[in-house]
Amino acid sequence: MNKLIAEAISARETARAPYSGYRVGCAVKCDDGSIYHGANVEASCSSVGVCAERIALANAVLAGKTPKQLAIVGEAEGPLSPCGTCRQFMLDFAPLKVILANMDGDEKHTTANKLLPLKFERRSQ
Ligand code: THU
Repeated sequence: MNKLIAEAISARETARAPYSGYRVGCAVKCDDGSIYHGANVEASCSSVGVCAERIALANAVLAGKTPKQLAIVGEAEGPLSPCGTCRQFMLDFAPLKVILANMDGDEKHTTANKLLPLKFERRSQ
């Protein structure tokens, strides 16, 4: 199995998902080869919970690293398809390779740019 997917499966164990029961794991590989984990963290007010992808990317950023590749995994029919908010968030780290996976061994290799074409972007000032 792809090493980054294995890391995401391990990260998934740390998810806090008492409301949905749906656990997602994410692993981010940085330009120096270091790996950072994330998992979804839910809150009683559902809209303020945070997805696995944004937590993993934030962990890498807080360590001062530059994310280059990300893998996400959950129990999905086919490779897990990330939410729109995470797609927008991932684009800030483009070019970012993305591996979508599930617990059945399905995987799809793509990029942040392919997952969300025509991103929101302010005119630079
Ligand atoms: N979730 C993620 O962490 N990443 C995704 O790409 C899709 C969804 C989380 C949000 C929520 O905690 C649970 O999965 C689904 O209700």
